[in-house]
Amino acid sequence: VPNTESISKGKYFSIYPEIRSRKIPLDYYREEYFERERKEIFPKVWLNSGGRGQDIQAAGEFFVLPLPLLNTSLIFCRGEDGTIRGFHNVCSHRGNKLTYAKCGTAKRFICAFHNWTYDTQGKLRGAPGAGSIPDFNRNDYGLSAVTVELWNDFIFFAISPPAKSLKEYLGTWGESVSGFPFDKLKLVSRYRAEVGANWKIMLDAFQEGFHVPFLHHKSQPDAGESENPLALALDITLQGPHGTLSFPANQQSVVYGRGGESQASEITSPATHRLVNWNKEASHEEFEQKYFPPGVNPTRESNWSFDINRVYPNWWLAIRGDHMHTYSFWPVSHDKTIWDVQLYYPVASNVKEHLSQEMRRVRVRNTLPEDLSTVEGTQAVLNSGARDHFVLTDDEILIAHLHHVGDQMLADSNHN
Ligand code: FES
Ligand SMILES: [Fe+2]
Repeated sequence: VPNTESISKGKYFSIYPEIRSRKIPLDYYREEYFERERKEIFPKVWLNSGGRGQDIQAAGEFFVLPLPLLNTSLIFCRGEDGTIRGFHNVCSHRGNKLTYAKCGTAKRFICAFHNWTYDTQGKLRGAPGAGSIPDFNRNDYGLSAVTVELWNDFIFFAISPPAKSLKEYLGTWGESVSGFPFDKLKLVSRYRAEVGANWKIMLDAFQEGFHVPFLHHKSQPDAGESENPLALALDITLQGPHGTLSFPANQQSVVYGRGGESQASEITSPATHRLVNWNKEASHEEFEQKYFPPGVNPTRESNWSFDINRVYPNWWLAIRGDHMHTYSFWPVSHDKTIWDVQLYYPVASNVKEHLSQEMRRVRVRNTLPEDLSTVEGTQAVLNSGARDHFVLTDDEILIAHLHHVGDQMLADSNHN
């Protein structure tokens, strides 16, 4: 276990004086505050759908996002005209849930209740019985749309018409990582978990890296380096409501490093080491650092491992040298969250790469329960009365920033 007396690399709270407090009141995680977030934040911002344009390439392909937070379920569908749209999964007749599928291909969406039928662009095409409704105009009874825009092929939506375009909302953060070869990465696996914790207690657990040498010391014993035993960030940048943390790693690490002989080969088996590193032999030229946009590995340090990008409010994107992980944290209630984890890798071109990706997938799956172990525990004693706030170190400023942005949005909505 590393020495905890080490000094933080960056004095982030003095670089960002607008983040005034490193004390986080526990009220931010409680029901009353959550109800305000549900009403005043989530319906008013751009949200990531968890899908990409390439998931629904052909006309009629669709996927469904259940959204209990906003009392709805959404269908994202590529229309006959090639455009991706989002609709409430709600029949316009008497409100039956239109499709129970998670994804698929449709020529028409047909309601099971009375067969009202919609095309892939949301238009009402068939409406048994509607001839008896005086002055019925079927143009008024298409599917109710939400606003959809794409960024680097990631599908975002907004429930209420947003004040800013998606590009404006993602701002300088979006520009700084645009151009990364996201399109070369394919979904390899996806996990969903219902977690008994507030969505921000969960997200907080993924906004700092210095828990890695402690919480993950068994699963990733070689993550830290002797010069940086706490695995403190190379850089933390706040950009509007979004934030990034650039994470270092021991380059000899089985999990994090980019090559060399692992110092951990006595702990993890040589076979594990070889399996993981097979992927590193593969040449995917587009993932060489010299092609990265400025927001990926922003410090250009050689001991870089990956960047955490927190896109406000609830999307998390980790960009690594040759893969990415995305997490969506979907609140269900103040103390329950659906966690949607997606792992993307380049298309494996041979058996070695397949094995390597499988090995890394399994290692991620084994590490994530360690992260989960703290969040439900924290939630369980949140109302113990033991403390009324959390206190943050310099490397935890992204947590303070998340709460700061939320507070600002709620204050602004009070003035409206
Ligand atoms: S509720 Fe859908 S057709 Fe009647
Ligand atoms: Fe972790």
